[in-house]
Amino acid sequence: MVKLGVIGLGKFGTNILNTYKQLERKGLCKLVSVCDINEKLLQEQAKKYNAKPYIDFKEMVEKEELDGIAVATPDPFHKEPVIYSANKKIHVFVEKPLDITIEGCVEMIEICKKNNVLLQVDFHKRFDPFHIAIKKDIKEGKIGNVEYGSCYMEDKIVVPRDWFPNWASKSSPVWFLGVHFFDLIRWLIENDAKSVFSKGIKNKLKKLGIDTYDSVVSTVEFKNGAVITFELSWILPESFESIVNQGFKLVGDKGIIECDSQYRGTRLCYENSGVMTYNSVFINENKDIMGETVYSGYGIESIADFVYNITYIKQGCKIEDLRKSELTAFGEDGLEVTKIAVAVHKSIETGKEEII
Ligand SMILES: NC(=O)c1ccc[n+]([C@@H]2O[C@H](COP(=O)([O-])OP(=O)(O)OC[C@H]3O[C@@H](n4cnc5c(N)ncnc54)[C@H](O)[C@@H]3O)[C@@H](O)[C@H]2O)c1
Repeated sequence: MVKLGVIGLGKFGTNILNTYKQLERKGLCKLVSVCDINEKLLQEQAKKYNAKPYIDFKEMVEKEELDGIAVATPDPFHKEPVIYSANKKIHVFVEKPLDITIEGCVEMIEICKKNNVLLQVDFHKRFDPFHIAIKKDIKEGKIGNVEYGSCYMEDKIVVPRDWFPNWASKSSPVWFLGVHFFDLIRWLIENDAKSVFSKGIKNKLKKLGIDTYDSVVSTVEFKNGAVITFELSWILPESFESIVNQGFKLVGDKGIIECDSQYRGTRLCYENSGVMTYNSVFINENKDIMGETVYSGYGIESIADFVYNITYIKQGCKIEDLRKSELTAFGEDGLEVTKIAVAVHKSIETGKEEII
């Protein structure tokens, strides 16, 4: 039985709790304890998910005998709980981005390696069935050598303004959204980035007191010569048809692949609403025959993958052998993605191309 704890019980931490609880009902793990510095939220979540509450993650790590910990604190605060847990030989699952500094990522990777624990990052776009099918075609050479492409990921303004006003200015559309697509493209074309040139605009959010970029456009060259642009923003109007707009195109010397990663074919319109669309394979809710809510979709699969990986380790699988997985994102993937995001921000400041 895989014994688990969760640190950071906010919006995304709740998806982790739902996933673990669902796997617990199937006998695959036990959600033992939860931690958040927000006392009210901590007590609510501990009660709802029937787990032991801790306000201090160090105390939780010391007192509970956990196999794995998931970290869903805000972007700049992943490192400390990861390192503390790894030093106690606990496997760690980290929300994206792994860290907002290259040094932080390297430190986490080294400490996890030293302690022989798994460091896994939640880059869930790898688990999207549309993306999995695309990767298979690229791997089989159906579009040949990828020469260029473009990606876009854009949130409605409600995300930075209303969802996490306390830490949005410490993040950016690059850290919050871009990292997903940096990882997706790396994974699809099996290449790391070589150089970056970016432009960013601060305007609308800054006027609302959130000192970060409204939008960032980057051109990234990968080591195989592919040149991909990334359009990232946090300012879509509230009336937009979905919370996020996202997709990509890749063109090779033998073909082209286009993917709308948001609009998967379902359109809705109700009284007093405009036309809405949603990503039907991200996170879905249903009821099972016991009346329990069941969650499915790639947003859940990526979280569950950590539990399956710990199960393999407990059955004797070496962490190095887990690297055969087509889907799992490791600390090293988190590092490569952070290198791109750091270079993007640097390029905006210097006005020059940055070598990664
Ligand atoms: N995978 C995805 O698609 C996805 C989507 C949204 C957010 N995220 C990531 O998940 C992380 C959390 O985002 P969120 O939207 O849930 O944020 P949130 O603000 O809703 O929740 C963060 C929680 O962490 C708690 N916290 C902060 N410091 C802590 C500490 N030292 N110990 C314990 N608890 C602490 C806060 O009190 C808060 O409840 C971020 O890194 C974010 O980028 C990932």
